[in-house]
Amino acid sequence: MIALASDHGGFRYKERTKALLDELGLSWKDFGTESEDSVDYPDFAHAAALAIQSGACDRGIFICGTGIGISLAANRHHGIRAAACQIPEAARLSRLHNDANVLALGERLVDWDLAEQMIRLWLETPFEGGRHERRIQKIEIEE
Ligand code: RB5
Repeated sequence: MIALASDHGGFRYKERTKALLDELGLSWKDFGTESEDSVDYPDFAHAAALAIQSGACDRGIFICGTGIGISLAANRHHGIRAAACQIPEAARLSRLHNDANVLALGERLVDWDLAEQMIRLWLETPFEGGRHERRIQKIEIEE
């Protein structure tokens, strides 16, 4: 189950992502927002990140204007590794090396064709493990 979240700046791409996931036969759960009316991206990032933390969802695709704000909020949650990507190679490496469980995209920064390419690549790329596993473990800190 893929958790979807956006603010108003990412709303249109979130809707397009649903259609893409349907086409790919992947299930999703939408944590909002519901329109292009102005909202605060942390509200949606936190709701969707909690669903991944709890295991209700396996991973997520979060979208705001830049992908930055929504990834910053998501990354405050232990176990969430949100990668804000603007080029396909970053999306691919975020899976291969970082085991990113959230792909964050910026609707105002990339056109849909590029966003779709990143989503497809991110979904199909496995985590490489090995030396990267140790590094993933070191991301988490106790405060
Ligand atoms: C909203 O205007 C915009 O700031 C937001 O979508 C995002 O780009 C923040 O990082």
